Amino acid sequence: MSEAAYPPVTQHLSDPETAREEGRRKMDWALQHMPILEALREEFTAERPLEGETIAMAMHVEAKTANLVELLADGGAEVAITGCNPLSTHDDVSAALDAHDSITSYAVRGVDDAGYYDAMHAVIAHDPTITVDDGMDMVKLVHEEYPELLDSIVGGAEETTTGVHRLRAMDADGELKYPVFAVNDTPMKQLFDNVHGTGESSLATIAMTTNLSWAGKNVVVGGYGKCGKGVAKKAAGQNANVIVCEVDPRRALEAHMEGYEVLPMIEAAEKGDVFITTTGNRDVITREHFEVMKDGVLLANAGHFDVEVNLDDLVDLAVDRFEARDGVEGFELPDGRVLNVLAEGRLVNLAAPISLGHPVEVMDQSFGVQAVCVRELATNGATYGPGVHDVPDDLDREVAEIKLAAEGVAHDTLSDTQREYMDSWEHGT
Ligand code: NAI
Repeated sequence: MSEAAYPPVTQHLSDPETAREEGRRKMDWALQHMPILEALREEFTAERPLEGETIAMAMHVEAKTANLVELLADGGAEVAITGCNPLSTHDDVSAALDAHDSITSYAVRGVDDAGYYDAMHAVIAHDPTITVDDGMDMVKLVHEEYPELLDSIVGGAEETTTGVHRLRAMDADGELKYPVFAVNDTPMKQLFDNVHGTGESSLATIAMTTNLSWAGKNVVVGGYGKCGKGVAKKAAGQNANVIVCEVDPRRALEAHMEGYEVLPMIEAAEKGDVFITTTGNRDVITREHFEVMKDGVLLANAGHFDVEVNLDDLVDLAVDRFEARDGVEGFELPDGRVLNVLAEGRLVNLAAPISLGHPVEVMDQSFGVQAVCVRELATNGATYGPGVHDVPDDLDREVAEIKLAAEGVAHDTLSDTQREYMDSWEHGT
């Protein structure tokens, strides 16, 4: 293992011991509600399927992720981790992780761009054999600056939609040189994490950050994909009037048929009280929208990168900016209107000061999928060629079965006759 120049988290903290204790308390609470990771921990500790692997991770470093990281270490891996967003790290959790003999954590909250990438270089200096990303920054850096590692990396796993989009683009250009599992796209992740997780945690974070109610508000949801559906549904459940903005005609129609008002953003901009973007795209809300918004609106982004609300435009327009509350910045326009941006336009459910990310139960599923994918890479990685791979269906089912067993939910199974019928084209009327 190479020596990294950038120091681990404990050297950035004034009282690492207290931080470690607090981080461990957060992890213990989360773990009580993570039956999938608990079940896998028993297996991983007994069988050590990751012995000899070094895992480089760039993820949101908070309590739930930390339990995944420890599971991988308990499975025999050396793990080095940093954040995948400058504002989403919990320093205490990062410190608790770093105390583990097989884990080095470089994640520190509030780093600037240079610190963010220094930490990522430090992780890669551990010479990984497996990468685990949320957003694809690690895969990109390895390919661009460490081509000598590409032969020894057996594969990777990607957590989020934006990361999978970027990986598929890289793959289409013939530039992706090792296999990566699209964890985001598998049912046990996407149907729960993107929909319920983003919906619940974004709304909870916005409400807690502002101390304002949803009832009777016009909530504009940018993008009606997996995350947008969750945000729209939960906002409607809190008695808000939901307005959806979409570029895909089928998704716009779907939102219309769900009973939501569907409008172009330029019209929604005049009506909205709260704006939440979930597109994974840039410039969803720009100058022309700011110019017609009501006084006092809230602007929040729940997509991966901080490009959905164009803050450069807002800074250009504003005559003053001030901290309205912790996690809320007011931008005063020349006519006296104030537009409030939450969490600096970064993904609100993870980057706002009080944010906790998705509910624990949801992340248990997502991280259960991550864990079985890493196990698959360690045991059968050589059978996958370079490129983006779907999570094998049997692995996705394995995670679902563990969760159902933990919940005490029994379900039906196909009989042989039914299976034969479903697999046949010969039966007709
Ligand atoms: P998706 O692909 O299912 O949905 C995105 C939707 O946005 C699509 O329907 C697309 O047509 C629409 N869209 C694209 N450009 C648009 C524009 N300019 N205006 C209006 N609509 C537009 O993706 P998914 O899974 O919903 O993810 C969205 C983003 O959220 C990604 O960046 C993803 O990485 C991120 N994400 C965030 C989470 C969080 O915790 N905040 C959790 C999971 C994903």
